[in-house]
Amino acid sequence: MAERNASSLMIITRKSFFCLFALTSLLFVLSWVFLLRSTGRPQFLDHTLLPNSKLLSVIDHAISATDTQNDVEPSIGNRSILVDKEVEENSSSSSQPNDGVKCNTNEKEVLKVFMYDLPPEFHFGLLDWKSQRGTVWPDLQSKVPYYPGGLNLQHSIEYWLTLDLLASELPNPPNARFAIRVHNASEADILFVPFFSSLSYNRFSKINPHRKKSNNKLLQDNLVKYLTAQKEWKTSGGRDHLIVAHHPNSLLDARMKLWPATFILSDFGRYPPNIANVEKDIIAPYKHVIKTFVNDSSTFESRPTLLYFQGAIYRKDGGFVRQELFYLLKDEKDVHFAFGSIRKDGVKKATEGMHASKFCLNIAGDTPSSNRLFDAIASHCVPVIISDEIELPYEDVLDYSQFCIFVRTSDAVKKNYLVNLIRSIGRDEWTRMWKRLQEVQDLYEFQYPSKEGDAVQMIWKAVARKVPSIRMKLHKSRRFSHSSIHKEKGLTRVPTPSNFW
Ligand SMILES: *[C@@H]1O[C@H](CO)[C@@H](O)[C@H](O)[C@H]1NC(C)=O
Ligand SMILES: *[C@@H]1O[C@H](CO)[C@@H](O)[C@H](O)[C@H]1NC(C)=O
Ligand SMILES: *[C@@H]1O[C@H](CO)[C@@H](O)[C@H](O)[C@H]1NC(C)=O
Ligand SMILES: *[C@@H]1O[C@H](CO)[C@@H](O)[C@H](O)[C@H]1NC(C)=O
Repeated sequence: MAERNASSLMIITRKSFFCLFALTSLLFVLSWVFLLRSTGRPQFLDHTLLPNSKLLSVIDHAISATDTQNDVEPSIGNRSILVDKEVEENSSSSSQPNDGVKCNTNEKEVLKVFMYDLPPEFHFGLLDWKSQRGTVWPDLQSKVPYYPGGLNLQHSIEYWLTLDLLASELPNPPNARFAIRVHNASEADILFVPFFSSLSYNRFSKINPHRKKSNNKLLQDNLVKYLTAQKEWKTSGGRDHLIVAHHPNSLLDARMKLWPATFILSDFGRYPPNIANVEKDIIAPYKHVIKTFVNDSSTFESRPTLLYFQGAIYRKDGGFVRQELFYLLKDEKDVHFAFGSIRKDGVKKATEGMHASKFCLNIAGDTPSSNRLFDAIASHCVPVIISDEIELPYEDVLDYSQFCIFVRTSDAVKKNYLVNLIRSIGRDEWTRMWKRLQEVQDLYEFQYPSKEGDAVQMIWKAVARKVPSIRMKLHKSRRFSHSSIHKEKGLTRVPTPSNFW
C-alpha cells in the first residue's frame, strides 16, 4: 500500500513538473514574441530559424485571443478574433506603399511543407487512380482524381490537404494559399506524410483470404518501414512530421509507432493520452454530409422543430446518454428524436429536418466527436453539445460558446433540465447564434481549389501554430546529441512516451 502511494505521488510530482514546464515554455515563447514585436526582428534571427512575419502575426492573433479570453468582461461580438484578420486585409493592402515594418505583405503563403513522394498505393492509388509513366502524383491540370461520395467523404481531410499542396505548385496556383510545398526538407516547417489512412481503413480493412493481414494493415506496416528508414525521420525522431488519421480507427497499428509526429484527428477518444493529445495534435472538422443551407432566410418562428436528433444507438461507452435522453425527450411534441444513422437516402430527410429546427443535439456516441456537429453548423441549427470529452477544431482561435450550447452530461440526464434550458433561450439570443453560424460556416468547408478561410486553410493555420512548439521539442531533443557521438552511428530509436515529454 505504501509503495503504491509513493508511486502515485511520483506521478503527481511528474505531472506538476510537466505543468510547470509547459507554463514556463509558454511564457518563454510569449516573451520572445513580444520582444520581437517591440524591437523588430533581430538581425541574427534569419528566416530559416524563425517562421516569417506572417506566421508571427498568426501567432500574435492567437495570443491576443487567449488574452481576451482571460478578461473578466463578458464576451461580445468582436471578441472572436477570427484568425482571419488576414482575410480582411484583402489583396488591396498589398498594393499599398510598404511602410517598412511589414515585409512582403503580398506573400500569402507562409507554411512551408515538405511532402514525401510516397508510392501511389498510399494515396491516390487508393482512389483507383492509375499512375501514367510512373509518376507519383496526378496532374491536377488534366484531371483531379475523383473521391467517391457517400459517408467515406466525412473523413476525406487527407485528400483535400494533399490536393492543396499539389495545387501550390501549379503554374497558376489558387489564390488561397497558406501552405506551399517545398522539395528540400531542411527548408520546411513541417514534413507531411500523404497517407490516406481513413480511406485505407474504410475500404481495405477486410482481411485478405490469401494473407493473414488486411491491406489496411499491410499499408501501415509498409508506411512505418518507409518512414523510419528516412533520414528526415531519423534526425527528428518524427517530431516534425504531420500525419492525418481522421477516422477514429485509422492508423490503428501504426499510431503506436509514429506517435512522435503531429496527428490530424477527429478526436482523442481512442488514443492513450501519451500517444495523442491536444498539445501535440490537431483536431480537424468532419466534412459535413448535409448540404449547406444557402440563402437561409429562416427565423426563430419559421423553424417549427425545437430540438432535432438523429443518430445511432450505442450501447457501449458514452452511448447510454443517448438512451437516457430519448426517454426524457420522447414526449415533447416539438422535439424530433430518432435512432438510426443517416444513410444515403436519409441525407435528404435529415437535411430537411435540420433546416427546420432551431437546435440540433450532438450527443457523444461511441466517440466524443461526430459529423453531426458539422451538419448542424451547415444547417444553421444551433448545436447543443452533450459530450464532455469533445475537442473542437481551431478552438484556440474560435469561441464556440458564441454559436453552440454546451451541456454537461451529468446535467443533461436530469429530469427536464435540457428542455427547460433550451426553452429558456429566446428569439434574440437564438438569432444572434444563428447569425454567428453563418459567419463561421465557411471555416468547415472542404473544397478544391481551396478558398480563403475554408477548412483546408484553417487546418494549415492550425499546423502553423504548432510549429514553434515542435521546434522547441526538436531543439531540446538535440541538447545532448554531442555526448552520444561515441554511440553506435545512425542508431535512432523512437523515444518511448515517458522520456519524450
Ligand atoms: C466591432 O468593432 C467595430 C470597431 O472596432 C465596431 O464598429 C463594430 O460595431 C463592432 N461589432 C460588434 C458586433 O460589436
Ligand atoms: C478590399 O478592401 C478595400 C478597402 O480596404 C475595399 O474597398 C474592397 O472592396 C475590398 N475588396 C474585397 C474583395 O473585399
Ligand atoms: C536544402 O536546404 C539546405 C538549407 O537551406 C541547403 O544547405 C541544402 O543544400 C539544400 N539541399 C538541396 C538538395 O538543395
Ligand atoms: C441565393 O441568392 C442569390 C442572390 O439572390 C442567387 O443568385 C442564388 O442563386 C441563390 N442560391 C440558391 C441556392 O438559392
